[in-house]
Amino acid sequence: MTTLPTAESEEPRLSRRSSFDITAFITRNLRLQPAPALADILLYTAHPASRLSRLGGTDPDAPAPYWAYGWAGGTVLARHVLANPAIVCGRRVLDLGAGSGIVAIAAAKAGAASVVAADTDPNAIAAIALNADANGVAVGVLHADLLAEPPPDVDVVLVGDLFYEEELAKRALVYLTTCRAAGIDVLIGDPFRAPLPTESLRCIAAYPVPDFGDGIGRGETRAGVFTIDPAA
Ligand SMILES: C[S@@+](CC[C@H](N)C(=O)[O-])C[C@H]1O[C@@H](n2cnc3c(N)ncnc32)[C@H](O)[C@@H]1O
Repeated sequence: MTTLPTAESEEPRLSRRSSFDITAFITRNLRLQPAPALADILLYTAHPASRLSRLGGTDPDAPAPYWAYGWAGGTVLARHVLANPAIVCGRRVLDLGAGSGIVAIAAAKAGAASVVAADTDPNAIAAIALNADANGVAVGVLHADLLAEPPPDVDVVLVGDLFYEEELAKRALVYLTTCRAAGIDVLIGDPFRAPLPTESLRCIAAYPVPDFGDGIGRGETRAGVFTIDPAA
C-alpha cells in the first residue's frame, strides 16, 4: 500500500520556475466562480483575459492547464458523490488526476473522513489548495504520478476525466484494476471519451453535464459514472 499525506502534511509545490508565484497568478488572473452545473462548489476558473499561455513560458513540456477548466468527467462524478454521500461518508478518499480538485472537494463536502488530491501538474496542486480553501474544506495534496505505485492506503479512489489519451488510459486502467483487486472502491467519471475502456467498466449512472473538453465550452454532453469489475 502507498501511504498518502494528510491534509496538513504537504505544502503545495509551485511552478518549476522557482521565482514564479503560481498561487498569486491564480488569484489575480482567474475568477472564483461556481463550478459548471455545481453551484455549491467554487473554483478558480480561466476566462479569456487569464492568458494561461504565460504559465508554460518557453518550456515545450509544460503541462496543459487542465486544472483551470470544468471537465465533464469531474463534474459528473462530483455531482454523483454529492447526490450519494454514502459513497465517501466516513471513508478515506483519493482523487486521482484531480485537476481543479472538484471531485476531492465534493467528497470532502459529502463527509469523507479524509481526502487527498493527486496530480502530476504542480500548478494543479496550487489550484487544488486554493479551491479547497475557497470551499472551506480540508484536502491533502500530492504532486505525484501514482500509476506505477502500489494501491494507495484509502477506501475509495475517485477519477474524473483521466481517460483522455490512449497511453494514459491504459496505465490508469491497470492501476485502477489493481486498486479494485486490493478491495478499494473505484469510481470513474467520464463523458465516454474515445480512450475510455468501456468493455472493462460498468456504467452505474449517467447525467447530462457541461464539458470544456468539447472544444466549445458550452452546451451539455452525456457523461457516465463507472465502476471496475473486480475480475476485469
Ligand atoms: C482532464 S483533467 C481532469 C481534472 C479533474 N479530475 C476534472 O475532472 O475536472 C486531467 C488531469 O489529470 C492529470 N494527470 C494526467 N496524468 C496523470 C497521472 N499519471 N497522475 C495524476 N494526474 C494525472 C492532469 O494533470 C490533469 O490535471
